[in-house]
Amino acid sequence: MIEVKDNVFALHGEATTLLLRVNEYGLIEHLHFGERVDADDAEAFICRQGLGWGESVLLREGDTASCPDAMPLAWSNPGRGDYRESPLALAGQPADFRYAAHEIVAGAVPMASGLPQAHGDAQTLHITLTQTNAELHLYFAIHGDVLVRRAVIRNTGDVPMTLTKMMSSLIDLPGDYEMTTFDGGWIAEMRASTVPVQASRVVNESVTGFSSHRHNPGFLLSESGATEDAGRVYGFNLIYSGNHYAAAQRSLQGLTRVVQGISPEHFHHVLAPGEAFETPEAVMAFSPCGRAELSRRMHRFVNAHIIPPHWQGRERPVLFNSWEGCMFDFNHRKLVALAKDAAELGCELFVLDDGWFGNRNDDKAGLGDYAVNRKKLPHGLEGLAKEINALGMQFGLWFEPEAVNMDSDLYRAHPDWALTDGYAPLLSRHQLLLDLTKPEVRDYIVDNVCAVLDSAPITYVKWDMNRHSIALGARAHAYILGLYDVLARIFRPRPHILLESCSSGGNRFDLGMLCYGPQVWCSDNTDPIERLTIQGNLSLLYPQSTFGAHVSAAPHAQTLRNTPLCTRGNVSFFGCLGYEMDLGHLLKLEREQIRDQIAFYKRYRHIFQFGDFRRMHSGWQVSGEGVTLAAMFRTLTHAAPGYGTLRLTGLDRHTRYHLSTMGQRLRIGQFGSLVKHVAPVNLDPNGLILRAADRLITLPDGKQDMHLSGAALMAGVRLLPGFRGTGYDENQYTLTDFGSEMYIIEEENTNAES
Ligand code: DGJ
Repeated sequence: MIEVKDNVFALHGEATTLLLRVNEYGLIEHLHFGERVDADDAEAFICRQGLGWGESVLLREGDTASCPDAMPLAWSNPGRGDYRESPLALAGQPADFRYAAHEIVAGAVPMASGLPQAHGDAQTLHITLTQTNAELHLYFAIHGDVLVRRAVIRNTGDVPMTLTKMMSSLIDLPGDYEMTTFDGGWIAEMRASTVPVQASRVVNESVTGFSSHRHNPGFLLSESGATEDAGRVYGFNLIYSGNHYAAAQRSLQGLTRVVQGISPEHFHHVLAPGEAFETPEAVMAFSPCGRAELSRRMHRFVNAHIIPPHWQGRERPVLFNSWEGCMFDFNHRKLVALAKDAAELGCELFVLDDGWFGNRNDDKAGLGDYAVNRKKLPHGLEGLAKEINALGMQFGLWFEPEAVNMDSDLYRAHPDWALTDGYAPLLSRHQLLLDLTKPEVRDYIVDNVCAVLDSAPITYVKWDMNRHSIALGARAHAYILGLYDVLARIFRPRPHILLESCSSGGNRFDLGMLCYGPQVWCSDNTDPIERLTIQGNLSLLYPQSTFGAHVSAAPHAQTLRNTPLCTRGNVSFFGCLGYEMDLGHLLKLEREQIRDQIAFYKRYRHIFQFGDFRRMHSGWQVSGEGVTLAAMFRTLTHAAPGYGTLRLTGLDRHTRYHLSTMGQRLRIGQFGSLVKHVAPVNLDPNGLILRAADRLITLPDGKQDMHLSGAALMAGVRLLPGFRGTGYDENQYTLTDFGSEMYIIEEENTNAES
């Protein structure tokens, strides 16, 4: 809802308000973004300049309140007295945009450039500012509690205008903040780094051509000392998959300026007379009470206003993916055998990953080609998909359409379609990118991918992309527009296809890609202890319905860590569950455990994927439909553990709940040489008998079962004792390093007769 009172605009979300005013100099002042207040409160938020700041450059001679450098703004004019981070650069020319008009528009104003955008029925405030040779349009809308804004600049003069920086948003927030960014690389995504925002700029930027795992476009600004449940926290993101930029800087007056948009590095856009440039949408949310509430607001926004409407609230299938189990080494027979195993375990979707086309037997050849490799798949994709469908599973397929190997029929036919820069080609994973700024390249991809999708019953696509760009320079933005065009042409007419985007794992985990496909492969790193960081930090800004989360083999390929199967499952449950391993190597007891895991997940899938997620000390919880699922994760076990506590949040203190554990079985091998002390004969822990027993026999671990109030659960429930080196007991937790426990907390129907 939008209120306009005199020169004040109030945009209201459910619990949030954005207050802006047009000041007497025609600049758009930012008054407040935070708790819900009224337009009538605007007065309370005005920053008064009094007798000024001494050396101020003034917009009006003698008027000490007219210093733009000290104003809290929602946009600013570079070169005209505001020396803080600027939102645009017109090739060195100053800008002097002043308010001209505004309108309230029903719903979202469609993008003209083909960029993806938030959808929903929120009203939009459209403010127009003008200067002699240009118009600036600022769009603001609040979806739920999330502010979405963008800027459009139009050349109204009669000579070309060059843009070298054009941000989506600028905001000046009173107060001191710390900025948390999420940085990393391949198999090391989303490592949080927090620095105080002071007078020098703190920058979060990607220049790889893509949003990148180096610096996710999402970040936080928090009051010092903010926690999960206390303190003022702002979250920011960008609906964009290319080079991004955000900078935060604190002014002498105590205003923290934040700009967000496309990275200005290499950015160069010439606007002919009459032409306009449209920025991606910037996203911003606020929580007055810590990170948990911020995440809840962001999650609801992504689930309701970003992901394609077909997938809103729609449960995602449990999938099996061939990659980690087979890599390039498979054939029809082997895949069908795997699919039989996967179906028998409860998987609902079989995904054939890389290697099904061209001469693709390793990563050196074949990218760019689409002919099915008949040596591996003599019955084609259709034959394979039909057999998989007959097992009761859907069929999904991997593509990497943006890339080309030099050893491919496509490259031999069209070497000029690859992105090069006039120097010797720089390969990455033996591949180049295709030039998606060329319409003929986009047509080739769309035609071929659509032909494959229509050749067989394919209901899922993993869209991979495995290199950073070079050579894009000023065309980086045009490439991303090309990518969005391709995705829209392929998937908009096929909304039922579940698109999971991937880029060497989480190298393109962003809101732009999520507008086309509702989930993203978080990381090639499936080690569950590593995933606690990756998924845990993603969860600050993205909902768990967007996480591709798979159980893989142990010891893990990237860490060599041997993590119990229960923990691999318990971590992957908080996302879209999949399995990715050679199922033929599973022990019978592991199969049984996986079957139980999948059945458990299906029972609570809607809650795991769409419930209210909260991070706890040493664990995660998710709530919905009267059920809370809480997992406690252990990293290192210590001798003589004290009394453990499970403390939940967000429950109703007066409601009665039933708490139980999922229950897990302990392998005999985990007791090592201790077994000989309880066996009648002296058994060698490395001998045949105990090795066989480890494969066949399991012992029950402790199970908790209680009926209690929400108040008690939020105060903290004492857990069963832990293993203390004094023997095995069914009524204790005998978790080893990296063990975990899943608790199910269900509302009791107090009206039911007992
Ligand atoms: C990189 C992805 O992240 C992996 O999951 C897998 O699909 C490989 N590419 C296949 O080449």
